Amino acid sequence: MVILKSPQEIEKIRKACRVVANVLEGVRTKVRAGITTKELDEFAEQLIRDAGAKPAFKGYRGYPSTLCTSVNEQVVHGIPSKGVVLRPGDIISIDVGAVVDGFYGDAAITVPVGSITNEAERLIKVTEESLLKGIAEAIPGNRLYDISAAVQSHVEAHGFSVVREFVGHGIGRSLHEDPQIPNFGERGGGPKIKAGMVLAIEPMVNAGGCVTRVKEDGWTAITADGSLSAHFEHTIAVMEDGPLILTR
Ligand code: MF3
Ligand code: CO
Repeated sequence: MVILKSPQEIEKIRKACRVVANVLEGVRTKVRAGITTKELDEFAEQLIRDAGAKPAFKGYRGYPSTLCTSVNEQVVHGIPSKGVVLRPGDIISIDVGAVVDGFYGDAAITVPVGSITNEAERLIKVTEESLLKGIAEAIPGNRLYDISAAVQSHVEAHGFSVVREFVGHGIGRSLHEDPQIPNFGERGGGPKIKAGMVLAIEPMVNAGGCVTRVKEDGWTAITADGSLSAHFEHTIAVMEDGPLILTR
């Protein structure tokens, strides 16, 4: 069941989303060769707590950390660790959620560590563009899979592939609400998009094939073929006149 939000509720979600956006900008400045993903996680948790918010992922189904830090062939849900030291040429997806006053915000960015290959740069750029193209379809009267199709067609036009096993989601008083938002699908399909929907749209894009698997830790998703993967996410509200990005 899709829960539509009032303007007052959207305002509350926006507060959580502001914290999320600030954390991502803060963590982005810390990303460099030599830092561990555990250090990034501790920094992020401090920023969230200083803002009077709570990490949304920590404790969610037993997830241990504030951030998901997914390096190179890791797609999503990489667990921060003292053992993971960033190296020049890596790409890292940083995904974070925060709760303020019972409302959730969720967003992710992928950033380079030092100088990266042209292909990695292109992967990051195309993934972020696909997110923005998906968001642009979040207009009342459109269908949900218009978002999916816009993401997929942009990604595939550039020779990359979209992940099937993980999807975007509604968000509000829970981190994950209906509807599920696949990053693939047919234009014109799915439920009608309505004003008051709040959606976390999150393309995960692989440089190689679309197949993923989950590592023995039960969380970390990686590409089956070892190719690089990128991930961007925004929480948006569907307003009468179109999408409003809350995690900008
Ligand atoms: N943005 C991701 C999602 O919506 C992060 C969830 S990590 C988890 O699924 F630990 F909270 F599951
Ligand atoms: Co999400």
